Amino acid sequence: MTDKIKALEAEVAAYLITDAATREAFRLKFLAKKGEIMPLFDEFKSLPNEEKRVVGALLNKLKTAAEERFKSSESLSAKAESVDGFDFSRPAVSSFSGSLHPLNQVRSQLIDVFSRLGFEIATGPEIEDDWHNFTALNMPEDHPARDMQDTFFVQTDPAVVLRTHTSPVQIRTMLAQQPPIRIIAPGRVYRCDSDATHSPVFHQIEGLYIAKDVSFADLKQVLFTFVKEIFGEGLGIRFRPSFFPFTEPSAEMDIEWIKNGESSWMEILGCGMIDPNVLRNCGIDPEEYSGYAFGLGVERIAMLKYGIRDIRLFYENDVRFLSQFESGTV
Ligand code: PHE
Repeated sequence: MTDKIKALEAEVAAYLITDAATREAFRLKFLAKKGEIMPLFDEFKSLPNEEKRVVGALLNKLKTAAEERFKSSESLSAKAESVDGFDFSRPAVSSFSGSLHPLNQVRSQLIDVFSRLGFEIATGPEIEDDWHNFTALNMPEDHPARDMQDTFFVQTDPAVVLRTHTSPVQIRTMLAQQPPIRIIAPGRVYRCDSDATHSPVFHQIEGLYIAKDVSFADLKQVLFTFVKEIFGEGLGIRFRPSFFPFTEPSAEMDIEWIKNGESSWMEILGCGMIDPNVLRNCGIDPEEYSGYAFGLGVERIAMLKYGIRDIRLFYENDVRFLSQFESGTV
């Protein structure tokens, strides 16, 4: 009888309970009056007294084990009954859900800020022609400012370039619609330049506003608002006089950041009042309308916002880097 009890004990432990049906089968086999265990108690009564003590203890242990297995599988009886062999009580495996790339997170935040200020989104091609990328922006052939743009040319046709900035979208928009114009143009741009703060492919957001009596004060107001929205209050901002052929006057805007414990400045955008020549190139009368434009670097802003020292980290797709930005909405 001891052998039988031991065998049943092993059977109880190994019995697969996966749903309400197998649980009921377990009950009938082991716990019911006519199951495998209860009749053993009758047999037990006829044992000689000296065996009773040992067998009694084993038998009680077996019964308790069967009852406990039955009880611990209680939750299964409420679950789906049709999936065979699936253990519903197994803990779930947690999964990695991914997140938006930090550059896309910053791009969305920027678009959100400018949208609230009334700017609409405009787009243009990344493979551009010379006229839209340079000439119409007041940079005729042989103009020295072209050299600063580190242009990628298409070898078979030097009049086709990978756009070096989002400014050609200004031209395309002005040609397509009359003022008032208020657009931003987010997009990819290309320059033959590569180090810790420059990438041959990077992202800009162009801004353009043309209406009657637009002034430099309007431009500053919009840029101050954007910095406050993205970085919060109290950050050092400075405007430096600069030169762009398509704006007059022109400025560059720097934002303060801490580098090796010391405060320094990072250039994040170029801006200025649209040069009258550019308006004329696009059929807009500079006597009637004026406007401003700005072009900001998305990578630079993301670097400042998150304290990233090397622009190349954005493009290496290292999950250890990217997973630090998981809180961003997908
Ligand atoms: N297109 C310029 C650049 O990429 C930035 C700029 C845009 C400057 C608009 C003035 C106005 O360097």
